[in-house]
Amino acid sequence: MKHNRKVALVTGANKGIGFEISRQLAQREITVVLGARNEDKGMAATFRLKEAGFDVYFQLLDVNDASSIWQAVDGVWKQFGRLDILVNNAGIQVDRNISVLDLSPDMLNLTLQTNVLGPLKPNRY
Ligand SMILES: NC(=O)c1ccc[n+]([C@@H]2O[C@H](COP(=O)([O-])OP(=O)(O)OC[C@H]3O[C@@H](n4cnc5c(N)ncnc54)[C@H](OP(=O)(O)O)[C@@H]3O)[C@@H](O)[C@H]2O)c1
Repeated sequence: MKHNRKVALVTGANKGIGFEISRQLAQREITVVLGARNEDKGMAATFRLKEAGFDVYFQLLDVNDASSIWQAVDGVWKQFGRLDILVNNAGIQVDRNISVLDLSPDMLNLTLQTNVLGPLKPNRY
């Protein structure tokens, strides 16, 4: 059965901007699924919002891992039957204060994978 409220999924929601976006969406009577790659941190963040009286849920979600992304999609779909808002907030800046000329291939790869390819992953594979 379809959930009767709008449902939002926020990636990287355990802290920072993602957590605040989640809080503000929940304040607007939207059911919010907080995605986080670390279960303890994600559960703790979700608990903080639950304690404040919001309708929130935790979903383990690593945007670098295609199977994790699809498990989250399946989980939200099975639980709510809808997804109205997707906030692709998860991101990294591992190259802070490093010149682009000094970037290692691994660092560049991780950044592209997390910030660009993760949100774009369109297919199950
Ligand atoms: N703050 C700024 O001034 C600013 C400016 C421009 C753009 N942004 C962008 O806005 C977003 C949020 O910024 P913020 O300042 O709130 O950053 P933040 O405090 O560093 O939070 C980033 C969030 O993304 C999560 N994350 C990182 N890699 C992930 C992965 N592979 N899968 C799932 N989650 C992952 C982190 O999880 P962990 O806690 O597990 O690391 C954390 O929850 C980022 O995309 C950032 O690049 C921020």
